Amino acid sequence: MAFELDNIRKNVISCTRCELSKTRTNAVPGVGSVETGIVFIGEAPGRNEDIQGAPFVGTAGKILSEALEYAGFVREDVYITNVVKCRPPNNRRPNKQELESCAIYLQKELENIQPKIICVLGNTAFGSLLGGNEITKNRGKIIRRNAQLYFVTLHPAAIIYNPDLRQILKEDLKTLHGILDKIKKGMEIEINE
Ligand code: URA
Repeated sequence: MAFELDNIRKNVISCTRCELSKTRTNAVPGVGSVETGIVFIGEAPGRNEDIQGAPFVGTAGKILSEALEYAGFVREDVYITNVVKCRPPNNRRPNKQELESCAIYLQKELENIQPKIICVLGNTAFGSLLGGNEITKNRGKIIRRNAQLYFVTLHPAAIIYNPDLRQILKEDLKTLHGILDKIKKGMEIEINE
């Protein structure tokens, strides 16, 4: 499994499937551990991620780290990735073509990791993975699609623009920690969709 993830990482780093490869500094493959059985999925790298070649290492990353810690997760023990692996210029939202070209990498990551649950961070990941929108109305939901469980919450960057959302993200991740615990113990969880 680690070998295969390493292969995916190498393919991401050298990818030229879309125009973003021309403007990126570094492609940003997923990082972390698969042992916890959870994958966090954001939108796309921002400026700091593009420079460092790692996901969620800028301001949104700090917010994510804080929420993970509050919830009882160890950041290094979870897997963190994005739907799009290269930074869109000026941090615009990735377009349809970019999302489609990049989907293969996330698909391969998930096939290899086989997470017990996926945490969908924000509208772009929600739309791309589940066809959803209006994250503020849908956050906190547990969704099952094709035998895969998803938990939907806010994108950490939303907190930069609206600090009132910080506690909501933290509590959502705490709820998610409890859900993962229940899944691991074989207990029943309530699915919303
Ligand atoms: N925002 C994202 O969606 N992903 C990152 O890696 C950083 C910021």
